[in-house]
This record gives sequence, C-alpha cells and structure tokens, in this order.
Amino acid sequence: MKTSTYSSRLPDETGHIPYSDEENAVWRDLMKRQVSMLNGRACQPWIDAFHAMDFPRDRVPQLNEISETLQKHSGWAVEGVPALIGFERFFGLLANRRFPVATFIRRREDFDYLQEPDVFHELFGHAPPLTDHRFAAFVEAYGKAGLAAEPEDHAMLARLFWFTVEFGLVNTPEGLRAYGAGVMSSPGEIVHAIESDKPLRKPFDPVDALRTPYRIDIMQPVYFVIDSFDDLFELAQADLLGYIKQARALGMHEPAFD
Ligand SMILES: [Fe+2]
Repeated sequence: MKTSTYSSRLPDETGHIPYSDEENAVWRDLMKRQVSMLNGRACQPWIDAFHAMDFPRDRVPQLNEISETLQKHSGWAVEGVPALIGFERFFGLLANRRFPVATFIRRREDFDYLQEPDVFHELFGHAPPLTDHRFAAFVEAYGKAGLAAEPEDHAMLARLFWFTVEFGLVNTPEGLRAYGAGVMSSPGEIVHAIESDKPLRKPFDPVDALRTPYRIDIMQPVYFVIDSFDDLFELAQADLLGYIKQARALGMHEPAFD
C-alpha cells in the first residue's frame, strides 16, 4: 500500500478545525457535484437523513456541529481520527456510538477519486444514515460484535461492514437505490452501482457477504441488496459471531476480480 500524502487535521482547544479557503471550496464543489447525483439513486431514508443533517454547502462542516445533529436523532457522535486506525479502536468507537472520521480533505488533483477516506467521504457518506435509528443500531451492534470477536475474525467482520455500511444497496418500490457511504460519496460508483449492467447484485445474506472477498481500489463487481433499513435493524439483534462461524465452515467465495 502506498503511503498517504495526507494527514488528519487537528482541532484547536475549542474543537474547531481551521480549513483554508481552498479546502472549503473543495468541499463546496464536491458537495455540489454529489448532490446532483442523488436523484433516482439514493434511497428515500438516506435523502431524508441527508436533509436532517443539513450540511453547510460552502465550507467543510465542523465535527461538533455534526455530532450535535447526530446526538439529537440517534445519540451518535463523530470523532476525529488519523486516516487509518486499528480494528480494536474502530470497534470500540462504534460500540460507543462514535463514528471515526478522518478530517483532511482531498486536494483538487484527487477531486475525482481518492483511495483513502477523506472528510467528504466520512461526513457526506457516513453521517446521514447514522441519524436513522435502525441503521445506527446495526453499526453499534457491529462494533460490539467486533470487540467480542477473536482477532482472526476481524477481516471477516470487515467484509460485513463493506457490503452494508460502505457499499450497500436497497430495493425500493421505485427501483434499486443506494445507501452505502462508498457509493453515496462517489460520482462514479453511484452510477456503476445503480445503472451499470456489469456488477452482480445479490439479495443481502450476512453469511454470503462474510464469504465474499473485495478490493478497495476498483468499482465493486458485487453488491448486496437489502429490502429496507429494517433488515439492518434485524441484523443488529442477530448473532453476528455465529454467522462468522457459519461463513468459516462454508469457506470463501472465489473473488469476482483479478
Ligand atoms: Fe467509509
């Protein structure tokens, strides 16, 4: 993996992160482009959640203001972290209803694609559905399962997160829609996920998802489709570690990529 040329921005003593005019302009332009992609592609609960978040249009939001909105809706908050954190810290934060957020924003030269999660992906992609109690309950339960899991199960659990919170799709009466942050924050992936005939779209099954390998640096060849956020709420009550045992017994699927 190549080393990042970005590092997370540190807040001052009041919790404020100073962003430059250019960084704020990058947020504004990313926001404008991505909002224009949502119609007919984002599911209605995500759109409702997006309106509830009420992101500023012309500057990078501050973590405090995002946390305040999340607190009101679901008791969640965001916490600034370096771009990559270990599994233990990651699971620990989620189990305590805190979503880890890398705070740097991409430069213009990376406007279209950045492999690492920046603050646009983190907030635009991840914060809205955390206002929905069903989605939020699943992410909390996921964190708790992670804390209870053996270290050798961490990679397995990462796949469950990948195929739901990051790249999840949902069937709606209006047609296929997206809710995963990796889809919602990428202009290329959202079209690929909803409109392309290339990817395989499977009905969501937790054990199936746990057995499916993924790559982080390509458009996804496989997506899992839920029927509503109620499925995630149900999953929050399920025995996730039991699913891991089943997935191990069945073995991994062949990768759908080179
Ligand atoms: Fe993410």
